[in-house]
Amino acid sequence: MNNHAVCRQNIVLIGFMGCGKTTIGRELHQRLGYPFVDMDQVIEQRQGESIPEIFARQGEGVFRDLESRLLRELAVSPLLRQIISTGGGVVERDENLQVLRRLGYVVWLSAPPEVILERTSKTRNRPLLQGDDPSIRIRDLLRRRTPRYQSVAHLEVDTHGLEFSEIAGGILESARYFFSRSGLEV
Ligand code: S3P
Repeated sequence: MNNHAVCRQNIVLIGFMGCGKTTIGRELHQRLGYPFVDMDQVIEQRQGESIPEIFARQGEGVFRDLESRLLRELAVSPLLRQIISTGGGVVERDENLQVLRRLGYVVWLSAPPEVILERTSKTRNRPLLQGDDPSIRIRDLLRRRTPRYQSVAHLEVDTHGLEFSEIAGGILESARYFFSRSGLEV
């Protein structure tokens, strides 16, 4: 994907469920002092329902509409420096890929499928993984989404075997380098 001129200094975390987007996002927020936007949380607050309730009552399509709308709002927000944690499926819609790149520095957090399974099996808040065989589901979704994460990311970080604080430090350094090359500062 082309390197568009970047005018927003957001750090945008993308990647599959269980790859640490929220935890690393909070760490970056603490280090930089930029506001932290967890897109799933904003959607839950707006709807007055949890993600599993939205999926069950309104369906995945409605959730994806809400997610895409919020993403577009962030791309025209007067706030130019935020840490944005996206939901794992934000790359499912083509229209979102361009919007993600316009938002700022896009960091793809990845992990091997077995690590994702282990991390996500501890909670029941992910409707897409509640079927009989989450392991197969994870692999199927990863197969479809991996090229999409790859196409939109400025940086990939494999989170397996690293402390989240170490990862946050690395992201910060890379973001500083990236923005300085665009004539911007973090
Ligand atoms: C989803 C990921 C979830 C949440 C929803 C759908 C997905 O976010 O948006 O359950 O399609 O991968 P996390 O990646 O933060 O778990």
